[in-house]
Amino acid sequence: MPFGLLTEILFCLTSASAFSVKQFMKDGQTQILNEPIPGESPLELCDSLQPQILTLDSLKMDPVPPERGENLTIIASGTLSAPVEEGAYVDVDVDYGLIKLIHATYDLCEELPNVDMKCPIKKGHYELNKKVEIPSQVPPGQYKVVARAYTKDDELITCLTGEVVFPPYGWSMLESLKNSVSLLMY
Ligand SMILES: *[C@@H]1O[C@H](CO)[C@@H](O)[C@H](O)[C@H]1NC(C)=O
Repeated sequence: MPFGLLTEILFCLTSASAFSVKQFMKDGQTQILNEPIPGESPLELCDSLQPQILTLDSLKMDPVPPERGENLTIIASGTLSAPVEEGAYVDVDVDYGLIKLIHATYDLCEELPNVDMKCPIKKGHYELNKKVEIPSQVPPGQYKVVARAYTKDDELITCLTGEVVFPPYGWSMLESLKNSVSLLMY
């Protein structure tokens, strides 16, 4: 399931990173300002005017951009200024092109084993090194993700946002398809 994968990536990030999103009201419109995260990844901090429990020192992904059918390595380091305990949750929004694909809330502690961590997490410095395989069946297109993690007391742990575009299936695949079709016709 491609969307399971996307959320797993998000959990990797939310569990090991600190984000900030800037939000302010202007003429009745909420604006979100993002800040870059040190390291190379398609993600940014969001809600950056708001205090956050996680400070993400660095976030690296390889390859950038992520590729279908390849392993994606995620290396993150960050510091938690408060513990994360049972009851923590994460709100995830994923847009696929113009379509709202996912709008859901997940139990953060239930997802942490995906990244070899478990609740409670004490405050302190953490490093994460995780490899996830991106299935080659992920549909091509543009995916936009916003994930906000909160403690059980609704304090913002981190806000992460990012965009990944998986290109249309490559020429090599079309060529091999054409070749098999012409083989069938002879
Ligand atoms: C991804 O990593 C797994 C486990 O290390 C390995 O078995 C698999 O062959 C790798 N996939 C690719 C496409 O490199």
